[in-house]
Amino acid sequence: MAILELLEVSKRFGGLQAVNRCSFAVEERTITGLIGPNGAGKSTLFNLISGVLRPDRGRILFQGEEIQGLKPHQIARRGLGRTFQLSRIFPKLTLWENLMVVTEDAPRARALLELAGLWPLRDHYAYELSFGQQKLLDLIRVMMLEPRLVLLDEPAAGINPTMRNRILEVIQLLNAQGTTFLIIEHDMDVIMEHCHWVIALNFGEVIAQGPPEAVRTDEEVLRAYFGG
Ligand SMILES: Nc1ncnc2c1ncn2[C@@H]1O[C@H](COP(=O)(O)OP(=O)(O)OP(=O)(O)O)[C@@H](O)[C@H]1O
Ligand SMILES: [Mg+2]
Repeated sequence: MAILELLEVSKRFGGLQAVNRCSFAVEERTITGLIGPNGAGKSTLFNLISGVLRPDRGRILFQGEEIQGLKPHQIARRGLGRTFQLSRIFPKLTLWENLMVVTEDAPRARALLELAGLWPLRDHYAYELSFGQQKLLDLIRVMMLEPRLVLLDEPAAGINPTMRNRILEVIQLLNAQGTTFLIIEHDMDVIMEHCHWVIALNFGEVIAQGPPEAVRTDEEVLRAYFGG
């Protein structure tokens, strides 16, 4: 069963067709990867799904209901969470406070901090964390509202391998507990190892989708990444 479905979704910025008639589904309980070269339209697609932008045309269904045109907070309240390419934690609040400003659910905050291995740092200020730990905090902040689907924009980009593996491990654990993930990721190894399904974008269009191995070796995907 699809938790998210896009039907012919398009978005234009002036003369640039950033997203062009995109149709795909995200199956419940999967980790689905969204790949594509720089400027392919991945983040724009996230902005459309999460209500930051309004599609020019097309329909977006979350848990079977149309959500295009709803405000970001309305979509979030329905159980669709997201992170941004740059994390949006509050540096001058402690880790604990960063979670409490989302919702004052102390048991849940503790469980998420423990899951992320950040419980011992709960009274530290967020600015004291490493970049990777900040990304992890960003992720568990989103989890405070118990989302059914979470969109992650490059959750492991620019992070050292140890922390990167920790983040991917946390995503796997949350996925095993029932959360569906749609993840923008550039690292093909990460995609291959962690995703059940992959959607490839280029110039705003879906050029391939399928199991990771099939998409990785898809001719059009190879052409989009390596030219020729
Ligand atoms: N608000 C905006 N106004 C005008 N153009 C925009 C806007 N947002 C994105 N674009 C353009 O739309 C295209 C798609 O951008 P987008 O950020 O979605 O790409 P991306 O796939 O996320 O790329 P990256 O991998 O570099 O993050 C790019 O050409 C970008 O410059
Ligand atoms: Mg982007």
